[in-house]
Amino acid sequence: MIKKYRFGTPIDTGAVLTEIEVFNITELSPFTFKKDSQGYEFNLQLKKLDVVYGLGEQVRGINKRGWIYKSYNEDDCIITESRTSLYGSHNFILVNAINNFGAFFDFPGKVTFDIGYTDSRYMKITCCGDGYLYIITSDDNDLNTIVKNFREIIGQSYIPPKWAFGIGQSRWGYKSQEDITEVIEGYKQAGFPLDMVYMDIDYMQDYEDFTLNEERYPDFSNFVKKAKKEGVRLIPIVDAAIKVKDDYFVYREGLERSAYCTDEEGNPFVVGVWPGDSVLPDVLNEESGKWFAENYKFYLDYGIEGFWNDMNEPALFYSKKRLQANVAKLKRLKSELNIDEFEKMRHLIYALQNNVADYKDFYHNINGQKVRHDLVHNLYGYKLTKCSAEYLKKYQPEKRHLLFSRSSYIGMHRYGGIWTGDNASWWSHLLLAFQMLPSLNMCGFLYVGADVGGFGQNTTQDLLLRWMALAVFSPLYRNHATQGTRNQEPYRFKAEEKFLQLMKTRYMLLPFIYSEYVKCALNNDMLFKPLAFVYPDDVRARTVEDQLMMGDAIMLAPVYTQNAVGRYVYLPEDMLEVRFTYAGIKTKQRKNGNHFINIALDQVCVFLKKGKVLPIAKPAMHAEDVDFNNLTFIKNIDKETTYTLCMDDGETTEDLRNYLVDVKVMP
Ligand code: GLC
Repeated sequence: MIKKYRFGTPIDTGAVLTEIEVFNITELSPFTFKKDSQGYEFNLQLKKLDVVYGLGEQVRGINKRGWIYKSYNEDDCIITESRTSLYGSHNFILVNAINNFGAFFDFPGKVTFDIGYTDSRYMKITCCGDGYLYIITSDDNDLNTIVKNFREIIGQSYIPPKWAFGIGQSRWGYKSQEDITEVIEGYKQAGFPLDMVYMDIDYMQDYEDFTLNEERYPDFSNFVKKAKKEGVRLIPIVDAAIKVKDDYFVYREGLERSAYCTDEEGNPFVVGVWPGDSVLPDVLNEESGKWFAENYKFYLDYGIEGFWNDMNEPALFYSKKRLQANVAKLKRLKSELNIDEFEKMRHLIYALQNNVADYKDFYHNINGQKVRHDLVHNLYGYKLTKCSAEYLKKYQPEKRHLLFSRSSYIGMHRYGGIWTGDNASWWSHLLLAFQMLPSLNMCGFLYVGADVGGFGQNTTQDLLLRWMALAVFSPLYRNHATQGTRNQEPYRFKAEEKFLQLMKTRYMLLPFIYSEYVKCALNNDMLFKPLAFVYPDDVRARTVEDQLMMGDAIMLAPVYTQNAVGRYVYLPEDMLEVRFTYAGIKTKQRKNGNHFINIALDQVCVFLKKGKVLPIAKPAMHAEDVDFNNLTFIKNIDKETTYTLCMDDGETTEDLRNYLVDVKVMP
């Protein structure tokens, strides 16, 4: 059951597709509601045992209690526990109390979720502008049904092509055809499977979108073809901002079409990003968004089949206006150098990057209405990805494309996936990546993943191995690192056979991962669930923060601490331990309760539920080569059962329900 309430006169974000009757906010329950000069406030008393799930891409654990979170898309690569917002904003929470309910705050400006931070007994949510609130319940009081009810109204999640479930390698620092060839060769020499290599900003001419540095990529068309022949797709980055440069055709065309965000006076608003002074395409305007997206043709004509959209919070290294003002102030500082002047100077410089006050200084043209950016801030990455997805579909309707974005809002899950931004090679980020999975799934985002091995800082061999053991299950599996850090391609390390074993496991499990993904997308289900969703009566399961159920069959319990030889695992019921080793797959029946499970650095260990089977393919070098027709099954059954596989060609845009095939499995 869903009740929709309106507060103020909201903008239509397009997050919800279903028409729902609107109730008067004064009738709202279970929150109490009040309006003040700061905006709208929603309060709820929490009971001791209540768990609060949700918020998609956010810091901290699966249970969100005890911290304050802010939905305001932010580009900041120092992701610590103290942060309150990350790159995406997903305003859905699920309260697991005596009465279970979900709440979606459909407001694209800043929303604050104080979940027992100020007072542990209360949750206070504040929206600083007009929006809709959806309260979602279910007759059976089941968390899964509530999520399903919510997912139904926001529409089906994006399904990428099958090859996008393979392994991808990336690095900010691959500068040329030669660099990329070296990566493909490195993987090949080591006997490692590979499906994608990502092209970061250095492929462009002076960081200008929709251009190519022809010196570094002299024969791109053939290069793309050659890589594909080797089974590898090249995936270029597309940044949001367009360089200000008179003889740059994209910039000029955008100017002629008045396609950029403007300042108060109506002039294009100038910001600093990688290319230097740049302007922001007004992707909230339908025509301008369409125009921006048509430029993807540049790559498609070379045979490119996938993209990652970046810097679309939008990220601002500075706004020209503030830069000019602060430099003028710097010049006025006294010439004597002392601590006071230093503090002023530091403040003037630090205040430039991603200053949220800049978001109040530019405007969108939404259906002829001038809308200040800060009130719709969280929609920028969503709308940019929406228009690019729509163009890809229009240009090549016969196949699915890979598309994912850094910034997002609920609604974007229909058009692409997300990667969770600039994490670091820290063990805590391995756990964080795991904990975000179910929260993202609730909000519709299924094609998700964190940079494997960590983006910032130097990785270590053991961290990369443990991360790859977890990434076996991550729909988006991309190793990515920033420039200046230690080389992070698995073939750069000594323990090649260990890496190979983990990578093989991914491809052996691909029929399961892909089929479960598709079924979850079609049925508005979560691919990853907290234990409490499957064992609601198990009090212990409610508190487990480092194990997840995947699909309808297995439980995951990754190792996420350095020098560990294994970990404690809580089994909510008797399960079959399934261990992928060099010597084949080993199984062992385990009784419910706590167990210390040894897990070597090169092993993946999962737990198969009673009555379930796990399809296993032969290892392959590319996702498309995995033979879905030739499977063996790991079984924990005592009577005949079926497993439903998705048997499409991996690219079709037809309804994938037509490709679901039941396979009979005998005990
Ligand atoms: C941003 C992206 C990162 C990319 C870098 C350079 O920081 O998040 O993935 O490598 O920009 O393009």
